[in-house]
Amino acid sequence: MEKQNKACHLVLVMVPFQGHITPMLQLATILHSKGFSITIIHPELNSPNPSNHPKFAFVSIPDKLTPSRLLDRDFAGLALSLNKNCAAPLRQCIEKIVHSGNRITAVVYDSLMFCAQTIADELRLPGISLRTSSATTLLFLTVFPQLEEKDFISRINSPELQALQLPRLRASLSQYPTGVMAEVRVAFTNAVKSSSAIIVNSIAFLEQEALSNVKQHFPASIFTIGPLHKLAPTIGSSILTEDDECITWLDKQALKSVIYVSFGSMASIDEHELIETARGLVDCEQPFLWVVRPGMVRGSEWIETLPNRFKERMGERGRIVKWTQQKEVLAHGAVGGFWSHCGWNSTVESICEGVPMLCRPFFGDQMLNSSYVCNVWKIGLELQELERGNIKRTIKKLMVDMEGNKIRNRAMDLKEKATNCLMEYGSSSCSLNELINHIS
Ligand code: UDX
Repeated sequence: MEKQNKACHLVLVMVPFQGHITPMLQLATILHSKGFSITIIHPELNSPNPSNHPKFAFVSIPDKLTPSRLLDRDFAGLALSLNKNCAAPLRQCIEKIVHSGNRITAVVYDSLMFCAQTIADELRLPGISLRTSSATTLLFLTVFPQLEEKDFISRINSPELQALQLPRLRASLSQYPTGVMAEVRVAFTNAVKSSSAIIVNSIAFLEQEALSNVKQHFPASIFTIGPLHKLAPTIGSSILTEDDECITWLDKQALKSVIYVSFGSMASIDEHELIETARGLVDCEQPFLWVVRPGMVRGSEWIETLPNRFKERMGERGRIVKWTQQKEVLAHGAVGGFWSHCGWNSTVESICEGVPMLCRPFFGDQMLNSSYVCNVWKIGLELQELERGNIKRTIKKLMVDMEGNKIRNRAMDLKEKATNCLMEYGSSSCSLNELINHIS
C-alpha cells in the first residue's frame, strides 16, 4: 500500500482553530502512514509548528485576521472573513503546486474553508471535505434551515432524532445574525454538495440514524473514520503550552475521584461565572483539575479576580492550569467526570475513555453535542443552572451517588463500543480502508 500511494500527493487545507487544527493534523498523519505525501496549506493565524511534523510540507497563506477575532464570538462572520481573505492566496498556492509538475491527487479541506472546494472545482481537482464536528451538524447547516416547520417535524421520525429534542435546538440556532449565517450556510452547502467525498471524525454507531439521513441529502460518499485521535495518537498540535505537572498531580488522587473541567479553546465566561464555578467546585469536595485559558475570563488576564479565600479552601485538592494534555488527562484512572463545553473533540475524547460528562454548552454545535450526550447516549447530565449548590449536586450525582450509576455504566459501555470500531473489521477501520481506495 505504502509503495502504491507514494506517487499520490494530497493538499490539505486547514482552518486556524484548535478544535479544527488537531483533527486535520491527525488525518494528515493517518494518510501519510498509508503512503500519501502531504502538503498542508494553513492560514498565518495559529500556524502549526512544522518542526513537530517533519514528514509534511507546510505552506502559510495570509489571512488578515487578528487573534482578537477569535474572542468576539461572531463565528459566522469569522468563517466568512477567513474564506474571503484566504481564497486568492489559497488559489495561487494550489496553482503553484500544479504548475511545478507535482500532481495533486485531491484537495482535502476543512469544511469551514469552503472556498477550497470552489478552487478545486475551477482547477479540476477532486475536493474532499473534512467535517471535524458530528455528521448531524451537516443536517443543521444545510438541510434543516431550509425546511418548513411541518416538513421539519415529519423528518424527525427516528428515535435518535426525536431524543435530540431538535425543535429546541433549531430554535437556538436562530440566535445567530441571519444575513451572515445564511451566506455561510449557502457557501458551506454548495461546497459539501460538490465534494467528491466527505470525511467525518465520528463513529458510525454514535449517530446512526442521523448519518442515514445525511446520506439521503449528499451525493458524495461519506467516510466515518473517527475517532481520529485514537488512530494518530501522538502529535504536537496544541497552540498553548501544556502544563506537564498535571499528570503527576493526578497520580496522587484516588481512582475516579477527580472532576476535570475544561471549556475548550474558544468559549469565554464572565467574572461572575468564574466565581460561581470556583465555589461550586470547592463545595462539592471532589478533587478537581480546571483549565482556565489566559483570556478566557472576559475582562481579565487569567484568574486574578478569584478571591484569596477560594484559593485557600482549594488547597491541594484542586488545580487550575492554563492548558493541559487533555487526552492523557481523560485517560487517567483518577478522572471520574468531565465538566465540558461539549466541543466535538472533547465529547469524542471523553467517550473513548468512558468518562461521564457534565454538560454546559456555550454556542454552535455544542448544544447539539450536549443533547446527544444527555438525551441519546445518556452518558452525562446537563448543568441547567450555573449556581454553586446546583453544581455541587450535579457533580455528586454524576460521579458518586447511586443515581448516577447507570450513566457511569453506559459511559464504560460506549468506550468499549468505540474501541471495537477501531478493530480490524470495525466500522471505522473499514471506512478508512474504503477512503484510501477512494482516494487512490
Ligand atoms: C471548537 C468549537 O467550540 C466546537 O463546538 C467545535 O465542535 C469544534 O471547534 P473547541 O472549543 O476547541 O472547538 O473544543 P473541542 O472541539 O472540544 O476541541 C478542543 C481540543 O483542545 C480537544 O482536542 C482537547 O483535547 C484540546 N484541549 C483542550 C487540550 O489539549 N488541552 C486543554 O487544556 C483543553
